[in-house]
Amino acid sequence: MKYKAVRGMEDILPGDVGIWRWLEDNARRVFDFFGYEEIRTPILEETSVFSRSIGETSDIVTKEMYTFKDRKERSLTLRPEGTAPIVRAYIEHSMDKLSSELKLYYIGPMFRSERPQKGRLRQFHQIGVEIFGGGPYSEVLAIRRLEFLLRSLGLRDFTIKLNSLGCKTDKDSFAGKMKKYLKDKEKRLCDDCKVKIKRNVLRVLDCKNECCIQVVRQAPDILDSLCTECGDRFDKLKKDLKDMEVPFAETKNLVRGLDYYTGTIFEITHPALGAQDAIGAGGRYDNLVKDLGGPDINAFGYALGMERIILILKKTKSLPEPKTVYVATLGTKAKYKGAKIVAALETWLLRKEWKREHARVMMDGGETSLKSQMRKANKNNAKIVVILGEDEVRENKAILRNMVTKEQRSVSIDNVAKEIEKELEKH
Ligand code: HAM
Repeated sequence: MKYKAVRGMEDILPGDVGIWRWLEDNARRVFDFFGYEEIRTPILEETSVFSRSIGETSDIVTKEMYTFKDRKERSLTLRPEGTAPIVRAYIEHSMDKLSSELKLYYIGPMFRSERPQKGRLRQFHQIGVEIFGGGPYSEVLAIRRLEFLLRSLGLRDFTIKLNSLGCKTDKDSFAGKMKKYLKDKEKRLCDDCKVKIKRNVLRVLDCKNECCIQVVRQAPDILDSLCTECGDRFDKLKKDLKDMEVPFAETKNLVRGLDYYTGTIFEITHPALGAQDAIGAGGRYDNLVKDLGGPDINAFGYALGMERIILILKKTKSLPEPKTVYVATLGTKAKYKGAKIVAALETWLLRKEWKREHARVMMDGGETSLKSQMRKANKNNAKIVVILGEDEVRENKAILRNMVTKEQRSVSIDNVAKEIEKELEKH
């Protein structure tokens, strides 16, 4: 029998791990700079942590969770998202005592049994942020910082879609209006939406089926259901975002599939992604901490899909590429000299704290021809090739070939590391 990874759960192979680490390192550096603190929670939680927060009738809880009974018949679930576990940890460890405003971030795998397709997996990874007890400018700063993070990762052309659901009363009143509006239109909706009318009527608004898009075109506007306080808060956020020059697109029909949101919600989309075009999403969830048994504290957060970010970076060729030095050798003596050059260069790179994404040194271990080694150098996009043949070894020399300008020169082996350093600094 031939084993395969579980459907929708992918191996991250050595060729790709560099990109993942680059993404994680960059996110961590930016978050550290913002004063966000990392939190790591277990991958398993008691099932009710999710059902009580994401919502008993949501798609995630009804169809997508990996839930099982442990040996003591306790119902446990592989986390489908990070917010609920962090709220659980926040309450359990009385983290409201740590600081009036607590800014947390996390990076890790999540699990949802959805139908796999490009950009949609059953084990996927999120970079997320949760902020508890924020002040009046916390939300605008968090969105501004999110935009900064995305740009620092090399992402361009994304859209921040923004809307507000209002408080619990506003949401309930809007749901009532939607039910009334859809009453005589149910037949025109897709089968999924027919069920959603009863379960979570707001979700009909973001159905991607053409028949439902037609129906909701004339639907009531959520913003018309906001109370004065929620309306004013949303207007202030939009004004603050404009002041801070954060571009956004107010999006009338934007709703979220998780029940805990109140007030601001947003989604970030990118045109390079196709059907699953959301890089990330989030919003306010001011009632969740209290609803799960904690203090009455406001909260705001978001999560980004790492697979989707990587898809875009690959598609738009915006990934950083290491500067590769390839050492090509012919014959046993040349291989020995080559290995010494590799060691000297690596020592130099390490001393300068260059990371793998910045530079790497490669040498073929086998006895292949110079031609095949040059092919490998090209395949690895080498910037510099050091050529050591029998003549070079005899004359204590090496040829340095600049693969960008195609110039090559002969240098003494004693100086080769220094000469490569000089070339590398130029690229
Ligand atoms: P979400 O919209 O369910 O929100 O997921 C956030 C992001 O995770 C999505 O925009 C997408 O990029 C990625 N994602 C979700 N499901 C998959 C999947 N099956 N395969 C690949 N990527 C996926 C949340 O999870 C909320 N906890 C966000 C949040 C944090 N709200 C407040 N704080």
